[in-house]
Amino acid sequence: MDTKIIRIESEQFPFSPKDEEILRQAGEVLKNGGLVAFPTETVYGLGGDGLNRESSKKIYAAKGRPSDNPLIVHICRLEDIGRIVKDFPEAAKKAASAFWPGPLTMILPKSDAVPSETTGGLDTVAVRFPSHPAARKLIEYGGGYVAAPSANLSGKPSPTAAKYVIEDLDGRVDMILDGGGSVIGLESTIVDMSVTPPRILRPGFITFRMLEAVLGKVDIDVTIIEPDSDQAPKAPGMKYRHYAPKGILTIVEGAPGKVVEYVNRKAAMDKAAGEKTGVIASDDYAKGYRADAVKRVGSRREEESIARNLFTVLREFDDEGVTKIYSESFESQGLGQAVMNRLLKAAGHRVVKV
Ligand code: TXA
Ligand code: MG
Repeated sequence: MDTKIIRIESEQFPFSPKDEEILRQAGEVLKNGGLVAFPTETVYGLGGDGLNRESSKKIYAAKGRPSDNPLIVHICRLEDIGRIVKDFPEAAKKAASAFWPGPLTMILPKSDAVPSETTGGLDTVAVRFPSHPAARKLIEYGGGYVAAPSANLSGKPSPTAAKYVIEDLDGRVDMILDGGGSVIGLESTIVDMSVTPPRILRPGFITFRMLEAVLGKVDIDVTIIEPDSDQAPKAPGMKYRHYAPKGILTIVEGAPGKVVEYVNRKAAMDKAAGEKTGVIASDDYAKGYRADAVKRVGSRREEESIARNLFTVLREFDDEGVTKIYSESFESQGLGQAVMNRLLKAAGHRVVKV
């Protein structure tokens, strides 16, 4: 398949006539059952018409994703939600008015309008109303209900720039819209609103505390906080191997001096064995590491910067052929909880305490 790759300059409304026309054409592709990858404020999405079962099947095929792993349906107007959910409870309305448009996905009982292909056979549907202007315009032109997982091949880190989408999906989708780098860099927070109290299934930019402030009591899926839990995660996608770089990633936890010493010792041994070594470092300690590629993700106090850079850095290690990667461990509160959740998955839960 010939994939059209088009740059858009659409960080804000109103768009230029040229961008408006590109988004209109992209919307036509969606309405005709095609696939369009597009920027959102979290990560790039791989969009298809969420109400068309054939489009959802195409999404699974393009990503190489198991079809029991449901898709998120993206909307661009709050009033549109009525068509796809059976019930929009008071608590969900509150969360919507606090956090939509934005990086929050809500699980709600689905209506018959949503085909089971889109929800992986579940009787609930994941709904998100993104804030990214181009995403919203595309959804509008695409018919209002765009199913979109992250625009990576299954198992790879979610793409935070169009070049990573191109790496994974060129030739597999109709169109890729390049809207520059993702502002948040981690996927949306998922909260299950079909249960009481609401339960966080995937941590993200909207944190536990932010949700609690609006909703009162909120639960959190144990598999997020206890990585060794035997329980299956409630978001089917969370059980799959994820975000994995090609190199072997180990998280090193402990007092800063000890972490640096351990990483340098291991990296020296790896190098002697012919490996190419990399470190995911905070600005605070980056200078102390000795490895082939030391990548800074930001200051330890700036969780937003760490979140934004994590997936990009994992992709860069792949591009540079790094075979052994070590990472500092980060706070597991606030946004750091989302960072650690993704990092632990990328590391296959390989953590060394020093
Ligand atoms: O930020 C995001 O959410 C991005 C952008 C493109 O919007 N999308 C995204 O989609 O991360 P995806 O497909 O990569 O992740 C969706 C997650 C999966 O873990 C899936 O299992 C879960 O949401 N999910 C979807 N529908 C669900 C449902 N009905 N019940 C429980 N989990 C669900
Ligand atoms: Mg994904």
